[in-house]
Amino acid sequence: MITYTKPPHPREYRLIFKNVDRVGWDPSIDCYLRDGGYQDLQKAVAMQPGNITAEVKKSGLRGRGGAGFPTGMKWTFIPSNNTQPVYLICNGDESEPGTFKDRYILHQDPHQLIEGMVITAYAVGAHTAYIYLREEFPAAARIMEQAIKEARSRNFVGHNVLGSGFDVEIYVHRGAGAYICGEETGLIESLEGKRPYPRIKPPYFPAALGLYMCPTIVNNVETLCHVKHIIRMGGDAYASLGVARNTGTRILCVSGDVKTPGYFEVEVGKLTLRELLYDLCGGPKDGRSFKAVIPGGSSSKILRCDESFALKYPDGSERQLAFWDIPLDFDTLAACGSMAGSGGVIVIDDSRKMSWVLNNLNAFYAHESCGQCTPCREGSTWMKNISDRIVTGDASPQDLATLESIAYQIDGRTVCAFGEASCWPVEAIIAKFRDELLADTQAANDGKPHNLEANAQRRYLTTCSGGL
Ligand SMILES: Cc1cc2nc3c(=O)[nH]c(=O)nc-3n(C[C@H](O)[C@H](O)[C@H](O)COP(=O)(O)O)c2cc1C
Ligand code: SF4
Repeated sequence: MITYTKPPHPREYRLIFKNVDRVGWDPSIDCYLRDGGYQDLQKAVAMQPGNITAEVKKSGLRGRGGAGFPTGMKWTFIPSNNTQPVYLICNGDESEPGTFKDRYILHQDPHQLIEGMVITAYAVGAHTAYIYLREEFPAAARIMEQAIKEARSRNFVGHNVLGSGFDVEIYVHRGAGAYICGEETGLIESLEGKRPYPRIKPPYFPAALGLYMCPTIVNNVETLCHVKHIIRMGGDAYASLGVARNTGTRILCVSGDVKTPGYFEVEVGKLTLRELLYDLCGGPKDGRSFKAVIPGGSSSKILRCDESFALKYPDGSERQLAFWDIPLDFDTLAACGSMAGSGGVIVIDDSRKMSWVLNNLNAFYAHESCGQCTPCREGSTWMKNISDRIVTGDASPQDLATLESIAYQIDGRTVCAFGEASCWPVEAIIAKFRDELLADTQAANDGKPHNLEANAQRRYLTTCSGGL
């Protein structure tokens, strides 16, 4: 019987977070081995690598880093006639605002990740693997280094893993703290020691042309942990968790205006937004009501709590789905015009002004644009400048149209998906809260120099000249 310092909600299904907050648990290899650790690796190295990939495909596992791409399929994109080294990279950048799950795995259950990584490396034929960690995770770096050392001393990592003839080394690499290093090709550039400018896809799909232009599999921390459970359970049994095409469990990170924010591991698609926000998160704060939710990290489009969606089904039928009845799976959230993304659910209540929410997001993206391509570099700053003005009451109604047009000119015109990540929130917030934002603008500002810097300059000149 497992006991926890913070007991999971009865609706949770703990697979990946089984050991998080567990009483008597520590990150050492002895603790992990006492709990049956590394038995899945033992099983995996007795299998043919292709059969591991087949099980992962059967499981239906989709990446937990953001895009929800099928993991087994990604692995098969390594060219079959490849003669170059293959690399495996664990994406531990965890930089999407609202997301705070990977850090718990890194801090509390490092051997689960190492076991998942070694199985994956064996399946894809990688002899070198990297764990790329964001700079802000110094403790995770220390814990992972220690765990790799322990795993090597027991022959789970290194030369001839468990007598299988398979060799693999794992290295920890720390970034210098930039959101764009979470984007897989920016991450690869950073790992190569360069400025993390993302690469154009095609041709630079990492599975074909990745690290040092060799085939490279990049997977998220949580995704790699799922692999070991798939080997233990078998692909079919894993696929019986969750719902069709959206299998297994995933960790939802809920932040913002709820009574009990936190992390919840649930079967994918088995929980509606109503159940998540009311049953697991305790409902709105006293005297408040829910206004909107950003369901998959800051890059996903906002949903209003009073919206409903006309969904089309493969058989041609159509059904209305109210916001509260949305099941939190990849496909339904996409059909509602948003995305499940990284699982970071940000909740906004009626105490928040949408101009403030918009400005907060714009400030983040303007700061984090890598600057490689013009629409994103210039556009993200312009968007922030305009939302700065909306917040301070210095904007004119015309500014809203300008803001919207900048967002649509970024959309689809950039090297990497950061472009969409920065403009989708703007497009969605304007489309869904236009009246509220318009109410924060002043028609009297129309035609005036409405850039804050210009206003400050005007005030300065007025003071200097003793009044115009
Ligand atoms: C701007 C941007 C930031 C991203 N940040 C992360 C991140 O912090 N962690 C992550 O795992 N994936 C992140 N991704 C997604 C990765 O590019 C990549 O799709 C993912 O690591 C693949 O792993 P998965 O298939 O296991 O999800 C980001 C993508 C973009 C466009
Ligand atoms: S879209 Fe933005 S973050 Fe991505 S490469 Fe272009 S400038 Fe850099």
